[in-house]
Amino acid sequence: MQQAVVDHFTALTGVAPAGVWAAPGRINLIGEHTDYNGGFVLPFAIPQAAYLAASPRPDHRWRFVSLDLDDSVEAGVDDLVPGESGWHAYLAGVVWALREAGHEVGGADLVLSSDVPIGAGLSSSAAIECVTIAALCDLYAIDLDPMSRARLAQVAENAYVGAPTGLMDQAASTLCTADHALFMDCRSLATEQVPLQVSEAGLEILVVDTRTRHSHVDGEYAARRAACTEACRLLGIDALRDVDDLDAALAALPELEGQRVRHVVTENQRVLAAVEALSSDDFPRLGDLMTRSHASMRDDYEITAPTVDLAVEVALAHGALGARMTGGGFGGCVLALVHAGDVVDISSAVEAAFSEAGFDAPVSFLGRPSPGARRLA
Ligand code: GLA
Repeated sequence: MQQAVVDHFTALTGVAPAGVWAAPGRINLIGEHTDYNGGFVLPFAIPQAAYLAASPRPDHRWRFVSLDLDDSVEAGVDDLVPGESGWHAYLAGVVWALREAGHEVGGADLVLSSDVPIGAGLSSSAAIECVTIAALCDLYAIDLDPMSRARLAQVAENAYVGAPTGLMDQAASTLCTADHALFMDCRSLATEQVPLQVSEAGLEILVVDTRTRHSHVDGEYAARRAACTEACRLLGIDALRDVDDLDAALAALPELEGQRVRHVVTENQRVLAAVEALSSDDFPRLGDLMTRSHASMRDDYEITAPTVDLAVEVALAHGALGARMTGGGFGGCVLALVHAGDVVDISSAVEAAFSEAGFDAPVSFLGRPSPGARRLA
């Protein structure tokens, strides 16, 4: 893929690109819908990534080229308008966010290709934003630390594309390292690299893409966020992170807000417990926390889908230590912590159950913690 973007760039412009960058998608091990509530998350980067070949242009114009879609969009400064839709908005949004923040970013030719599945809950959009910011910072010598890059990539997603997401995906794509999960306190933005090498314990993280697609520009994600904001208003607190007596909060809230709050508060506790479980190689405990997280997303936050529920159920019935949906929800991927010897059995069992239920065939792969955004050449 790296070679493909370079070759395409060279064919298009007649010269080799100034550089090539990559930024990965992510899987969240645990901690869902906690980021915008000032809580805790524990994602890791996957091998699938967005690749970008790029060179600066002297004329303050941007040419965004998608190899995968065989499409090209040109834009000048006046064309950078928040609310734009289309694949190139994720790149244009980053140019806009950098400029809004006062950074001198000139024009560029940018050729993109990505193998992060779209709409699968694996942060395909954050991968594009993060590879774009990595490239533009290098091309224009913009001195931004990794967390500031992630935050500007989030601005692109929120203010330009119009998806009201939290910071987890951009932070994961930018800050993750190989063989580690990234523990992040989304209030203080403190991070810690937590070793995640399950293969040493004879385990694998099996990822099942249910191929049920979602979009965070749709209303359901925003509706969950709005319920959390309303709960905070009723409780007189800034963020659900501040709930320290769950029972008292539940007694004070209407049923729906109560359910949402119970998910967020217990999910934060599960993330902290998962970090502890990892530090003591207690994988049965980690698996149990994952499964509880799924139940909480299904029953309290109500963001799962029949396909992901079935994949979790079948994985558990065939010996997984734990399983849960990952990402914003309403479809996408399930990750299951499984014994290495069970990978084939479990993926075939899920496939058979999907076929019997009349669902599209799922696609399985192994989730190996990979490096975050980087320059390749
Ligand atoms: C999406 C958003 C993230 C986060 C997750 C749910 O991936 O982009 O900010 O809220 O959903 O945990």
